[in-house]
Amino acid sequence: MENSVIIGPDALPALAELLYRPAVSRVFVVVDSHTARACLPLLEPHLPANYCLIEIPAGEEYKSLASCEVVWSQLTAQRADRHAVVVNLGGGVVTDLGGFAAALYKRGIRFVQVPTTLLAQVDASVGGKTGIDFQGYKNQLGVFQEPAAVFIEQKFLETLDPRQVKSGYAEVIKHWLIADADAFNTNRRLGWLTDDWTPIIRESVALKQRIVAEDPLEAGPRKLLNFGHTVGHAIESYLLLQAGREALHGEAVAAGLVCESWLSVQHGLLSAEELDKIETFVFSVFDKLSFVLMETAAIAEFALQDKKNAGTTINCTLLEGIGNGVYDQPVTVAEIAESLRYYLRLQS
Ligand code: GLY
Repeated sequence: MENSVIIGPDALPALAELLYRPAVSRVFVVVDSHTARACLPLLEPHLPANYCLIEIPAGEEYKSLASCEVVWSQLTAQRADRHAVVVNLGGGVVTDLGGFAAALYKRGIRFVQVPTTLLAQVDASVGGKTGIDFQGYKNQLGVFQEPAAVFIEQKFLETLDPRQVKSGYAEVIKHWLIADADAFNTNRRLGWLTDDWTPIIRESVALKQRIVAEDPLEAGPRKLLNFGHTVGHAIESYLLLQAGREALHGEAVAAGLVCESWLSVQHGLLSAEELDKIETFVFSVFDKLSFVLMETAAIAEFALQDKKNAGTTINCTLLEGIGNGVYDQPVTVAEIAESLRYYLRLQS
């Protein structure tokens, strides 16, 4: 079971099997104030009676060093040893932060991910990226550390606002755009609403696992997974830090998918017809984000802060046709600003 991803109705019973092993000295469950209320009741029957709950407030602003201290203080107070297991129950904030805290405590104790949002199920919990935000920059501190296992149960999605589910869907679309043209074409016809997310999650996780297995530390092909994120992160950071307006991660990524598809056309890699298909699909799911022409230059500047850039070159992932991402494509800040202006001109 180590390092595996278990998806579907067997997931929580499989977690229980791992946690009840004699080699596990104590179980610590990290939740936020939302998952404590909405998700813990579904998990609790699968936990040992003496588990210890660690709660942080919900929200990206709590993906912080202060929240890590809360986790480390509890582990220390309870004398957690190297055989303790941390169970992270939540969205990307909890799985990233809980993984990071576990990876650093006593030079690393085992942790498992129980992602409760679509975004965390198809992306954040898979692939071993952990981390926290620092001084306004997203994921500024972090380590690559694979969880002992990931357990995915779609029932948790019922606890979410549909806007949150939609946000995760942006990562699913991204996976199709970089590596699965057939899935993109089939699903853009079907639309985004479904009662059964498990097959979509399974497919998306398998696709991400294939890419991560090839390049766990993001030296090459894993950069494909950043498609939509150069512009997406820039919009997300700008709106939060400069404008005091918040967009959900996936909403910003959806805008990034459109902008970076447009950049792919400018670089002669994608056809105008394919761009049109992408835009039509993205806008059938997502509303247009609200920023104005005057803000585009400032948003583009934020792209330079991305950790993945060398000097002032912005290395972007673009599409060489739908279903075929290409990484390390240099783009300028001016081109990014122009892509944002293109986005603003589109009718949603
Ligand atoms: N979320 C992108 C990655 O895991 O590499």
